[in-house]
Amino acid sequence: MTKARKNILITGGAGFIGSHVVRHFVHKYPDYQIYNLDALTYAGNLENIKDLESAPNYHFIKGNIKDIEFINGIFEKHQFDAVIHLAAESHVDRSITNPNDFIETNVLGTANLLNAFKASHDLLEDKLFYHVSTDEVYGSLGKEGLFTETTPYDPQSPYAASKAASDHFVRAYGNTYGLPFVISNCSNNYGPNQFPEKLIPLFINNIKHNKPLPVYGDGNYTRDWLYVLDHAIAIDEIFHRGSMGETYNIGGFNEWTNLNLIQLLCSLMDEKLKRPKGSSEKLITYVKDRAGHDRRYAIDAGKINKELGWKPSVTFEQGLEKTLDWYLSNDEWLENVTSGAYQEYYQKMYS
Ligand code: NAD
Ligand code: TYD
Repeated sequence: MTKARKNILITGGAGFIGSHVVRHFVHKYPDYQIYNLDALTYAGNLENIKDLESAPNYHFIKGNIKDIEFINGIFEKHQFDAVIHLAAESHVDRSITNPNDFIETNVLGTANLLNAFKASHDLLEDKLFYHVSTDEVYGSLGKEGLFTETTPYDPQSPYAASKAASDHFVRAYGNTYGLPFVISNCSNNYGPNQFPEKLIPLFINNIKHNKPLPVYGDGNYTRDWLYVLDHAIAIDEIFHRGSMGETYNIGGFNEWTNLNLIQLLCSLMDEKLKRPKGSSEKLITYVKDRAGHDRRYAIDAGKINKELGWKPSVTFEQGLEKTLDWYLSNDEWLENVTSGAYQEYYQKMYS
């Protein structure tokens, strides 16, 4: 049964997935008050949620989850009924070059939120801490098999380890202090607003500018791709109808090797840009493999499907089409987010 949790803090709502979650909740639930807390790091961009500025049930709070005093202050002030926690450092390559940022935001930042939420209520009954996590906590699969909710944790990258640690803290607070929580572990997302350092938007942007497409290693790595709005809808279902203390895996039933995906992307981009067939593929450049690169991720999303009736609403073809069209018609967004700090990082990575 849906509980009255109408005063909601969403963290990381200026980022990729968070912006879609915030928009979904603001529009679908006009009687909820949605507070979006974001530090606006390189990955956070207010343009992602510009359309919500005048919505009466939407409020933006600029702040850092690493800042304990600030976090305690906003929980005391607003007495949130629920938290949907997405704020994180999210890119595996950055976690390899700078693991401490991941430990500080993903582990310590999550602990700050848990402590502040716990302290802000005498009675936690009917409240909810929803922790948004990744399938990368489960490690890497061989050719066969799927991650289920009972797959043992085996994180391989600093990013995955930091998310695994934060998942453990959420469960430990549930067990120790009775903090009501749910966790979802989702596969790779794609769609509008994704920062162009992740595979799909990076390659779209590079094709657009005739830049090399850096394929790590042999390119035979597999990921399961989900359209970002379908992730937002799954979060809504779990938030309202998920069982307390449970974990739900979310996935696209949609496995692709990087090479096959890149070839598809190249041919769609040739069509969209009206370039001769095969021109984008010529940009493929094999580069040094990512350190500790996980071979395959694949999700068994049977539990959320059976218990909550959720399944992806768009096919991969439909989702990619929407994604390409969005990136091709949002030049200014791409220009803005790829200037400054991003350029510096990108130059170091690939020059
Ligand atoms: P993102 O990098 O696009 O956005 C992260 C947001 O968090 C940004 O707006 C950033 O400004 C904010 N942020 C970062 N550090 C912060 C801090 N210290 N304090 C406050 N705000 C901070 O990430 P994303 O891809 O949208 O991922 C969102 C969440 O979903 C993350 O928790 C990630 O682990 C999880 N997830 C992502 C994927 C994926 O494919 N991208 C898949 C499964 C789960
Ligand atoms: P990414 O989008 O970084 O997501 P994740 O590592 O969290 O799954 O990468 C997806 C896959 O694409 C992964 O196997 C690494 C690979 N990849 C490349 O081959 N080249 C690139 O430039 C990037 C960013 C990723």
